[in-house]
Amino acid sequence: MISLAVFASGSGTNFQSIVNATKKGELQATIKVLFCDKKEAKVIERAKAEGIPAIVLTPKEFPSKKEYEEAILTQLKELQVDWIILAGYMRLIGETLLHAYEGNIVNIHPSLLPAFPGKDAIQQAFQAKVKITGVTVHFVDEGMDTGPIIDQESIRIDEHETYESLQAKIQRIEHVLYPKTIQALVTRGHHS
Ligand code: GAR
Repeated sequence: MISLAVFASGSGTNFQSIVNATKKGELQATIKVLFCDKKEAKVIERAKAEGIPAIVLTPKEFPSKKEYEEAILTQLKELQVDWIILAGYMRLIGETLLHAYEGNIVNIHPSLLPAFPGKDAIQQAFQAKVKITGVTVHFVDEGMDTGPIIDQESIRIDEHETYESLQAKIQRIEHVLYPKTIQALVTRGHHS
């Protein structure tokens, strides 16, 4: 069975949808660990409730990004993690992790990339008054939301759409698209 580490910084609804998919057998993989960079994140409680070990390390505990990622990497290697799944992880992956897991790190982003990369993508699309936005799953490279696109799904922004209703639409799509895409990747084997 392929082993995953999910990286998250926030509420963890995507983490939850990935866990649920493994429980239903829709995603044939083991979630070995949650990695979180924020001590107060709600996703940590979700991991506890699911009996999934959580590693919580904040960058300010380390002298450099390199040492931060080396500490993460040591634990991932120990757990024999095959893939890193970013699910609302609000930090750029650095050289150390990229090099060690090249081609085996994926991210989900709440826009149709390359439109609206970076933070607050839903808000960016909403304010830009575009009619179509969506969700992208992509491989992670050294850029901000720039790696090769694996899959996308579009969403229409209706005339009376609010930020909240758009966010709900995005989340509904994410929670189906991400587990499905991860399953396709892990059954295909390692990307190189
Ligand atoms: C998700 O919408 C995800 O696409 C987004 O953060 C949210 C996390 O929600 N990620 C990014 O914006 C990455 N640039 P969650 O914690 O409920 O899964």
